[in-house]
Amino acid sequence: MNRRTVGIGVVGSGRIGTHRALLASQHPAVSYLRLADLSEEAVERLGEETAADETGTDPEALVADPAVDAVVVATPEDAHFDAARLALEAGKPVLVEKPLALDPKEAAALVDLSRETGVDLRVGYSARYLQKYFVSRDQVRQGKIGTVIGGWSRVYSSRAQGLAILGRSVHATPVADIVTYLVDLVGWYLPDGVVPVEATARGNGVVFRDHGYDVDDITSATLTYSDGSVFGFDVCYMLPMGFPTTGQSIRFEMFGSDGVVLIDDDHRDQILFSEQGYRNAYASAQEVNLVFLGSRSSGEWAQGKMFGRIADETRAWLDHLGVGTPCHLTTATEAYVTLAATTAIEEAALSKTSVRVDLSAIGR
Ligand SMILES: NC(=O)c1ccc[n+]([C@@H]2O[C@H](COP(=O)([O-])OP(=O)(O)OC[C@H]3O[C@@H](n4cnc5c(N)ncnc54)[C@H](O)[C@@H]3O)[C@@H](O)[C@H]2O)c1
Repeated sequence: MNRRTVGIGVVGSGRIGTHRALLASQHPAVSYLRLADLSEEAVERLGEETAADETGTDPEALVADPAVDAVVVATPEDAHFDAARLALEAGKPVLVEKPLALDPKEAAALVDLSRETGVDLRVGYSARYLQKYFVSRDQVRQGKIGTVIGGWSRVYSSRAQGLAILGRSVHATPVADIVTYLVDLVGWYLPDGVVPVEATARGNGVVFRDHGYDVDDITSATLTYSDGSVFGFDVCYMLPMGFPTTGQSIRFEMFGSDGVVLIDDDHRDQILFSEQGYRNAYASAQEVNLVFLGSRSSGEWAQGKMFGRIADETRAWLDHLGVGTPCHLTTATEAYVTLAATTAIEEAALSKTSVRVDLSAIGR
């Protein structure tokens, strides 16, 4: 097995960039760590925490640094493009947080650039690194439920998360930012080459609008796929501030001719109640006594170690760079298909019509 050490650059020192940088700093293959964030305060704080070799406010200088071999882009949803493009142009593999972009044109340009340069671009749809999805997907791909006919999924969370997300990126709606995980999962379970072709959706809302965001509180959508399978995707990210989910509560159900996968990812089996209260590290507005531990979508730190999906995903990507082990992070093309599908869902909810999923930009 070929082993090599790698230099990692992390652009974005916010919530997820902090996880990625800390995990990189603990990984045996990582010999050099450089951080960049527009906020000097944020990057200095994280630089100290990770003992980074270099910190700064210029992502371009990070990408150009010869000691940086690969780049993580952990900026808000609408600010992935520039750093991802720079990394691809410099020939450095890049891990971009989900979704690849909010603008399909930017996403298509990154897919093209990755194809032209042959540089690997992966997108951090970290749910693929939860054991429950990884194992059931493997069973489905082995044919254990027969021909996949369709299914349902729904995800909810408190408005503390919904408002935190909209606060950093106003177009990162619950469909673009959260349903995207579920669409990614379904596409990953289905046979290679099967893609979403048509979306229908309805939405309704008052809570986010009362907070100044023209975004539905609840969306109920259906995607039809090229093999005829039909999947429902429902999202509600406006449960009351004190609701105990601190990230995502999910149900994921897939039906086939010979069987079914039923996944309870609500986290109601992991309860902490404390008179001292619990503060949600992702959305500080949420202070609760009762919490569904483990519902935080990124995963959790305890005793200086991170457990959960971002931890396993980051380590898999770093292992892939360091020793070439396969990793199943979402590819650029898969991420584009998912973005096209969530874009079609949003258009369908707005127009109250069926909308074709437009994959022409990637030649489908
Ligand atoms: N996989 C998961 O479980 C998961 C969970 C939450 C968020 N995310 C994704 O991670 C990404 C970041 O989310 P977050 O919660 O960490 O956001 P955040 O707001 O906490 O952090 C973003 C950081 O990027 C910096 N930044 C903004 N524009 C920049 C630029 N052009 N160049 C350099 N730095 C810039 C900001 O100053 C901030 O420090 C989003 O795409 C989000 O969807 C993934």
